[in-house]
Amino acid sequence: MKLEDALNIADLRAAAKRRLPRALFEYVDRGAEDEIALATNRKALEALKIRPRVLRDVSRRSMEHTLFGRPLRFPIAVAPTAVAGMLWHDGDVLSARAAAAEGIPYTLSTYSVTALEKVAAAAPHARLWFQLYVSANRDHMRSLVGRAKDAGYEALVFTVDGAVSPKREYNARNGFGIPITYGPRFIRDLSMHPRWLLGVAVRYLLTTGIPGIAHHPGVDAPVGTEDEIKRALPTSATSRIQADPSINWETVRELRDLFPGRLLLKGILHPEDAKLALYAGVDGIVVSNHGGRSLDASIATIDALPDIVAAVGGRLPVLVDGAFYRGSDIVKALALGASTVLIGRSVLWGVASFGEPGARRAIRILGEEIDRVMAQTGCTSPDQLSRQILWRRTA
Ligand SMILES: Cc1cc2nc3c(=O)[nH]c(=O)nc-3n(C[C@H](O)[C@H](O)[C@H](O)COP(=O)(O)O)c2cc1C
Repeated sequence: MKLEDALNIADLRAAAKRRLPRALFEYVDRGAEDEIALATNRKALEALKIRPRVLRDVSRRSMEHTLFGRPLRFPIAVAPTAVAGMLWHDGDVLSARAAAAEGIPYTLSTYSVTALEKVAAAAPHARLWFQLYVSANRDHMRSLVGRAKDAGYEALVFTVDGAVSPKREYNARNGFGIPITYGPRFIRDLSMHPRWLLGVAVRYLLTTGIPGIAHHPGVDAPVGTEDEIKRALPTSATSRIQADPSINWETVRELRDLFPGRLLLKGILHPEDAKLALYAGVDGIVVSNHGGRSLDASIATIDALPDIVAAVGGRLPVLVDGAFYRGSDIVKALALGASTVLIGRSVLWGVASFGEPGARRAIRILGEEIDRVMAQTGCTSPDQLSRQILWRRTA
């Protein structure tokens, strides 16, 4: 498929599926346990309908939008997704550049394969946010926060739904996961995808070496048999990477004191937690169920959104993510009071299939779709969208 032939996010996903090793494709595509939350996000979005408005002169429209006092070209931002750098050589940097070129923020994950300073240096025009997982090693946390501050990151996105690691059975079957390990099953899978192998793995091997997790050097990326990997990756090393189950509101307060930029909490689904976030002095919250990758019985994010918007009462921007694959999905969230929608897999599919132009195409596709649907609702800018355009069957 050529880049121009990708007309929607599903086309980019199909192109990525052809190119990627199975373990990587599934790592991106799938959810936790029975993947019900993944489907719930979609079903809830599809059940919410739009009542168009007509005859309203929508000839002059702008999607420009403000978040934290700065303009966004589209009301979207790129979600943290760890593995862009595994899908395409230098994928973290290329995705950040794509976001910059399309005028939206890019969030780099704690688990990215590229260090935050390198992304900042290689994508100097990007509006960067750093996503933080807090592990048991609080010195490490403080050092990462300091590094993000020094590298000029605008926001810290503290992911709060990762207190325990999710159950993703396909990762175990595919021999892949975080921390990244190179066991026999994964290596066999990689070797069957020569385009990926040459374009990504060999390029890393010839330059920076085997990709691992840049912000946790020394504990990941072991290569060998299953037994050798188990020995090389003792529980202590794994737990250095994993989020700490003892994180609490005190952790938020500490981060608030440590980081002078914007602080967002990602993974809020309960209105009471949204209120607590407000009291803790954060600058924004992300309504998220981790793209259906964490709690499989989770409420759909579009269903959680209205109560959370009501709970914060306009005192904080409320962002949302999870299965927003069409412009109409994003318009629905904005109409319910979301300030901005984070997009995860869409950008990964773009970068996995065509590198930076693919990531840009994903953003552009969604931007154009938002514009069209917004016009079909009779609105000429995102701030005109309101619940009045939405309809849901109640009986
Ligand atoms: C492959 C992959 C890796 C992810 N890694 C992280 C991560 O490191 N930190 C985080 O807070 N969220 C992570 N997420 C969740 C996303 O930030 C986001 O909540 C979710 O992907 C949104 O749903 P969407 O992919 O359907 O747009 C990841 C999601 C995917 C698909």
